[in-house]
Amino acid sequence: MKTLYLIGFMGSGKSTIGEMLSNTLSLPHIDTDHMVEEVYGQTIASIFQSDGEGTFRAYESEVLKKTPPQNHIISTGGGIVEREENTLFMKTNGVVIYLATSFREIAKRLEDDQSRPLWSQNIQEKKNLFNRREKLYEGNADKLIHTDNKSAAEIIEEIKALLG
Ligand code: S3P
Repeated sequence: MKTLYLIGFMGSGKSTIGEMLSNTLSLPHIDTDHMVEEVYGQTIASIFQSDGEGTFRAYESEVLKKTPPQNHIISTGGGIVEREENTLFMKTNGVVIYLATSFREIAKRLEDDQSRPLWSQNIQEKKNLFNRREKLYEGNADKLIHTDNKSAAEIIEEIKALLG
């Protein structure tokens, strides 16, 4: 089976769904955010703080390109779609699944989140980022799953049905 790449905004459930899908399909799971932290020995927040977003994006592209094109579930960071080289890589090598979550739902889920550098901006900046990204997710996905008001188990069932 081709590797599955989960894309979507921060808080859309990519890591949780990736982990569950990995158990259900008995395929190994890789989270690109965790990979960056392991390979470069720094938390994402500290990379943003000390070296800036550009350095994080370069690290993120590096690790993405090391992901195997077969039989893996990959949870990506919300900004993976910012670079065309990344979307091209995912589309060429795997199946890209967009976990589509509304801004309202994301804002609820991340209400108390302090760990994500790009979620610490003001509400209008977050909304602008969401609107811009939404088009990138839609434009680069092979499959789209709406996640609002659905349990993780329901989302897993939908993904399995989509894969046939
Ligand atoms: C980012 C999302 C984060 C992480 C980094 C940047 C983004 O991942 O990669 O903080 O640009 O949207 P999650 O989507 O897992 O929160």
